[in-house]
Parts: sequence; C-alpha cells; structure tokens
Amino acid sequence: MARVFVTCRVFPDILDRLRQAGHEVVARDAPGPIQREELLCGVRGADGLLCLLSDRIDAPVIRAGTSLRIIANLGVGTDSIDVPAARAAGITVTNTPGALTEATADLTFALLLAAARRLVEGDAHVRSGAFVGWELLQPHLGLDVRGKTLGIVGLGRIGRAVARRGRFGFDMPVLYVNRRPDPEAEAELGARYVPFRTLLAESDFVCVHVPLTPETRHLFNREAFDAMKRTAILVNVARGPVVDEEALVWALETGRIAGAGLDVYEREPEVHPGLLALRERVVLAPHIGSGTVGTRRALAEIAVANVLAVLAGEPPLNPVG
Ligand code: DGY
Repeated sequence: MARVFVTCRVFPDILDRLRQAGHEVVARDAPGPIQREELLCGVRGADGLLCLLSDRIDAPVIRAGTSLRIIANLGVGTDSIDVPAARAAGITVTNTPGALTEATADLTFALLLAAARRLVEGDAHVRSGAFVGWELLQPHLGLDVRGKTLGIVGLGRIGRAVARRGRFGFDMPVLYVNRRPDPEAEAELGARYVPFRTLLAESDFVCVHVPLTPETRHLFNREAFDAMKRTAILVNVARGPVVDEEALVWALETGRIAGAGLDVYEREPEVHPGLLALRERVVLAPHIGSGTVGTRRALAEIAVANVLAVLAGEPPLNPVG
C-alpha cells in the first residue's frame, strides 16, 4: 500500500479512485493554501503528492519527501515545482496539459470583453440605482472588439484556442509571438508571426499565454507598455509575474494603455493596491481560468490517473521535463 498526500480539497469521488486501488490517502480538508510546515510534514513518508500551483514544491520539500515517487500537479503550469531537483531525486513530475485549454480561452475572452465593454462597471452602476435609462452618450461607453487586431503572446494550446475565438468569432486579424513560427496555426488562423515590438505596436488586445520562466518574468514592463497602443487592453491569464504590476499600474494610471483584464497576479493572492483602486476598464478575476466544474474535475481525474500509473510501476501519462 502506498501513501498519497493531497495538499488541497479534491472531489471526494475522484480521490476514492486512489483508495479503491488500495492506497492510503492523506488529504488536507481545509480551504486556502497549505502552510509550509504542514507541507513538509505531509510529504514525509508519502509515495505520491497531489499538489497545486500555490504549493511551493522546492528542494527542501523534495528532500523531505524521501519516499516520493510522483509529484502530480493539479494544473498545467509547473513553475511552482523545482522540476530539476525532483528529477535528480528520481521523482516523476506530471501535469494536466490540454484539460484546461478551452475553459481558459473562454475566460480570456470573457476578460477581454468585460474590460472592453466595461461590464463590471456597468453592473455596479445598475446595482447602485444610478442607471437612468438609455442615452446616446451614456456612461460606460466601451471599445469595439469585432475586427480589431488580436495579439497573442505565446501560441501554445491556450493561445491558439484564444486566437480561434478571435479569428472565427470576432473576425479579428491575429498577430502572434512565439518561440518559433507555427505554420499550421498560420494556415488555420491566418495568424502573422511578428517581433514582440510589432505585436505591441499593432494590437488592440494583447493576450498573455506564456509560461513563467526567467525569460518571461516582467516581459511586460514600462517599456513594453509604452510600446502599446494607448487604446489597447492587456489580458493576462498565464502567470502574474510575467507582468511587472508596478509598471502596469503606471501604464493604466497615465493612460499609456486603456485597460486590463487580469486573472493572475504578481504576488498572488495579494493584488497590487493600485490595481484594486482602478475600476475603469480594469477587470480582476480570482485565478479562475480553469474554474469550471467540468474542467476542475478533469484536472483532478488526470492528476489521479498519473499517480495511479506511477504507483503501479507504469509510465506516467503526462510527464513534465
Ligand atoms: C494552470 O494549470 O497552470 C492554471 O493556472 C490553473 O488554473
């Protein structure tokens, strides 16, 4: 019998699959992130670890987990895990690619539309009783979306799903930045591979879909915002630290860009007070890119399937690194 430590609440019927396979499941049953001591204690003697992006699975945690055989991340981004240290310790790391693509692309568009059309401000206006009826020059007039240029930074699975929504749903020309050109995506979407600076200068909506790496940290800094159109909106559903929040607040406050739709934050769950204070064309979501019941169940199912495979001595379904 192997022991699996689970750092967060997971759908009970999915966790039961581990028990049905004869494993002991030690699952935390509290909301919010796990405390460091509890994490270090939990991995001791565990053969498998089910964790999520807010758990820092670094070298000390990996050292404490002397019997760990698998670290299964409930999500796709593995920047919270020291993958080289895990590999050196002979531990398999897995993630859940693909499962959250469409939900995250939907949320990207929801943020884009909500910021452009000032939906959250409008909602607050109606609820406050200030709505006095249709006027030609109503408050909360927004920006057009259809036919505007969509800039995708990182044309992976999610970037491409967002590009599809823009191209086929809103008739948007698509520009993209990627590690390398993607001829297949170009054929499908008529997307144009351009330098980062060109994308910034020509896009009306800039959507961030790159993973967090040393190269992408603070990719969006003052210089980048300065290169964007004053009417542009930034949407980030990837990782907070890709955007220098201080610079973003500056860009929004000074009108260097027109708005932002954010699902992730530099020091999550902390949000820059400057962002909290800005309401016009600024929409803030609580990291819910993958936040549909169906998608979150799929993440749990895939992570559990990876744990079951590795503990049975089989190859993982979704190895990382
Ligand atoms: C991921 O998988 O990296 C997401 O951010 C979780 O929603």
